[in-house]
Amino acid sequence: MVDSRPNKQAAPGGGDAALVLGIVLLLLGGLVLVVLTWGAAAIAGLGYGSPRGWLQHPTGPRWSGTATVAAGCEAVLLAGLLAPAVWVVLRSRRSRVWTDPLARYMSSRRDLAGMTEADARQDAARKGALSAGVGVPLGRSVAFHVALFGTYEWSQIWIIGTRGGKTRRIAVRQLVTHGGPAISTSNKRDLHDLTRGPRSEVGHVWVNDPQEIVREPAVWWWNPLTFITTVERAEKLVALWAASRTSEDTSGVDPYFEPEGRSLAATLLVAAARGGESITRLPDWLTGDEPGPGVPDPREILRAHGFAMMAKDLDKLLRLDKGQRDGVYGTAMSFFRFLRDPRYVDWIAPRGAGVLDGRPQFDPAAFVRSTDTLYLLSKEGPGSARALTGALVAAVFAAAEDLSEQSGGRCPVPVLFELDEAANVCRWPELPALYSHAGGRGIILVTILQSAAQGEEAWGRMGFTKMWSATNILSVGRGLNDADNLADLSRLVGDRQVRDRSLSTGTRGHRTVGTQIRDERIFTEADLRALPNGRAIVFASGARAILLETIDFTDEPWGWKATASQQHYAAAVTERV
Ligand SMILES: Nc1ncnc2c1ncn2[C@@H]1O[C@H](COP(=O)(O)OP(=O)(O)O)[C@@H](O)[C@H]1O
Ligand SMILES: [Mg+2]
Repeated sequence: MVDSRPNKQAAPGGGDAALVLGIVLLLLGGLVLVVLTWGAAAIAGLGYGSPRGWLQHPTGPRWSGTATVAAGCEAVLLAGLLAPAVWVVLRSRRSRVWTDPLARYMSSRRDLAGMTEADARQDAARKGALSAGVGVPLGRSVAFHVALFGTYEWSQIWIIGTRGGKTRRIAVRQLVTHGGPAISTSNKRDLHDLTRGPRSEVGHVWVNDPQEIVREPAVWWWNPLTFITTVERAEKLVALWAASRTSEDTSGVDPYFEPEGRSLAATLLVAAARGGESITRLPDWLTGDEPGPGVPDPREILRAHGFAMMAKDLDKLLRLDKGQRDGVYGTAMSFFRFLRDPRYVDWIAPRGAGVLDGRPQFDPAAFVRSTDTLYLLSKEGPGSARALTGALVAAVFAAAEDLSEQSGGRCPVPVLFELDEAANVCRWPELPALYSHAGGRGIILVTILQSAAQGEEAWGRMGFTKMWSATNILSVGRGLNDADNLADLSRLVGDRQVRDRSLSTGTRGHRTVGTQIRDERIFTEADLRALPNGRAIVFASGARAILLETIDFTDEPWGWKATASQQHYAAAVTERV
């Protein structure tokens, strides 16, 4: 990989010195060849008399077997001399990425503590989690040429611009090498196609694809009401669906009615869950009128299950004047827009009357105890299925939390949340708060974003700052455009000391050389923005910034499996179209 920084001198200690050394070694090798061959010919008694004579007839008329042996010995000697020269030249060419010489100003070996393979393995062994692997692979330290891992206690955030290798270099490797249950989100088919083959070898694969991104039919379904075991969970699910709305969903909805709308939606979710109804019952209850014929009364269900207060609230809402009632019910309905699309309903409600539906139901509690994979696919924009995607992520997280509580505080096998394109696909308001404690429970959160602005849009400025401060590993790569963030990051990477030499001429004509030492940013904002492909800067808890080489999955020993998987699933789609 050759890449240079146009507006700056080569960083000190860079490839140039190595190149000069290589050329010098080559010249020396040539000289040695001439001298030794002449010497060897003399030893063989060929009697050239002088180097000139030898140069004119090197294998001249009297060339002998002894001289051939001598020449062979010389060739071997020469190869021994040239090999290091060739190695140095090749090495210098390989590390001509302009960022790499700067790595030595950033972190020391101590900063890698806990992240090297040996440390990660030790940590995984202590947690009894080796069946999942040694840790979550990050890449290779540029300064020390060692592979780095996130331990099973560390949450991660990756911010890399579009086409920066988030999927190929991060998500694919982390998903494929994880031996425990894994949940993966994406708005494109790439991650699914690349990893489904290798993940099928680990466990069962569940694909949730309501928008037909990979054209996976609804061969299973999940009942969101199974998640509603408490009123608190109903409120959380409504908050998630509120955040998942697109501008199209909220047009005509008055924010004034938001709190009451949320409360109504949560109340009705509790009623549906307790009454054994399906989620498709909600629109019948959100008309703003008394329940029609054949529709069970949510107030009765609530009373029968000990939620008398909630039943009373429903009563009150029905007695509001029409304007207010429409406002509250309209807001509540805006959380359930996804119910209008039968493709989506097929994934979250039983077919027919329920009894006819032989499809298996997804069970988050069983999932977190398995080594299965759940793929969640959703596109951004109007009609996004991110309400379903987000709800499934939340349900699996809750199941993992329950499992950790039942297992002495930590999931026995770490559960990986590989949230690629998270801002588009997983609008889960709780996520920032979970960053501080998920790791300790053996739940690994990996949020992958294109920009910090995307994170702020999805979780709010406060929420994203919280997430950013609580994460154990924050990695940034190429293609970031937000100047404020780049300035912060540049400061966090820190300064290096540069020596300036200055020549001054005194009054009497004598010259003096002065040396000044000054601090200079290791990476300026402009440098950070232009990070080359395959390089990222990792900020790990308690360590100085680390320059990371991210690794394309094709460089992994199992890379061919991912490639084969991609070909297989991409071809399957072409056939079906
Ligand atoms: N077969 C391939 N081999 C090597 N690099 C590839 C291949 N296909 C795409 N790329 C490169 O990988 C990058 C895109 O990777 P991807 O992981 O999809 O990015 P992101 O997820 O960040 O948008 C692009 O720079 C593209 O040129
Ligand atoms: Mg991607």
